[in-house]
Amino acid sequence: MNTGAEGVETAVKLARKWGYVVKRIPKGKAQIVCCTGCFHGRTLAAISMSEDPDSFDGYQPLVPGFKRIPYGDIVALEAQLKKNGRNIAAFIAEPIQGEAGVQIPPQSYFAAVRDLCSKYNVLFIADEVQSGLGRTGKMLAIEHDNVRPDVVILAKALGGGVLPVSAVLADKEIMDVFTPGTHGSTFGGNPVANAVAIESLKVLHEKKLPQRSLELGAELLSGLQKIRTSNSDLIAEVRGRGLFCAIDVQKDVANGNGAYLLMKILAKNGLLCKTTHGHTLRLSPPLVISRSSLNRGIEIIENSVADLRAYVAATKRVRGLKVKKAKK
Ligand SMILES: Cc1ncc(COP(=O)(O)O)c(C=O)c1O
Repeated sequence: MNTGAEGVETAVKLARKWGYVVKRIPKGKAQIVCCTGCFHGRTLAAISMSEDPDSFDGYQPLVPGFKRIPYGDIVALEAQLKKNGRNIAAFIAEPIQGEAGVQIPPQSYFAAVRDLCSKYNVLFIADEVQSGLGRTGKMLAIEHDNVRPDVVILAKALGGGVLPVSAVLADKEIMDVFTPGTHGSTFGGNPVANAVAIESLKVLHEKKLPQRSLELGAELLSGLQKIRTSNSDLIAEVRGRGLFCAIDVQKDVANGNGAYLLMKILAKNGLLCKTTHGHTLRLSPPLVISRSSLNRGIEIIENSVADLRAYVAATKRVRGLKVKKAKK
């Protein structure tokens, strides 16, 4: 396919069809379990899994057949499977939630997900559209958990930044529920896009970009941790895996607009990144970034946090409030 959202649509259709053909779920009853905070794209099925009104409001009625449970909560998944496992075709999750602010679930979560999905004969779909292809320091983010999903969705980096191309991967006995004429699109299987996808996979392997992401990501995170230690009144948390990091700005900074303000200051100082929901800034530099550019980026973040401090101090002074200094 072309976009990540189309990949998600395909995986959802695949799971439903597998549910009817292989698992023998009664017709029309197949359900898919998804997660709070998820982002799977902008098509109707994808927004039907979302809890973000910006995604779904104004587009109702939504697609039925999705049940949302808290991300990272294995007890909630087990309860859902115990209650309704017979009609559940799949569990879909991002190995690390990107749009939700680089949220990394508890360490043993996906191993337990794998066990439960196998126990209840439910497909485990990993949406690796954002986290996949080296972003987190492994080819797939789910590899950090030593887990093999039944279905993997790839997009974004698969096109090497040149052409849109997405893919759904599964073993033959799952994929073969799609028979000729039952799924497709005009530009699905686009030969030029496929050539680009093969080439971008080659570049990822040959240039060892996942390894590079792991190494440079550790340097980025360590730089961010230092900045956070000296500015803990402004920065609540930093986290990341590979070159996929996040900065949580304290909720009370700039009347709750701290992350947005920091994003603007960063842009003015020469670093582009984007806020996700709430108080989080997501950093996902290109995997080919040079070490000197990365260090320059860390320096810009440090200077921008100092600018944020000066802004907060100035607005507090105007209101006659006490001003905190950065720790040495
Ligand atoms: C996890 C995830 N799935 C699906 C999508 C949708 O991809 P696209 O924008 O190519 O439709 C995105 C986009 O950011 C994503 O992050």
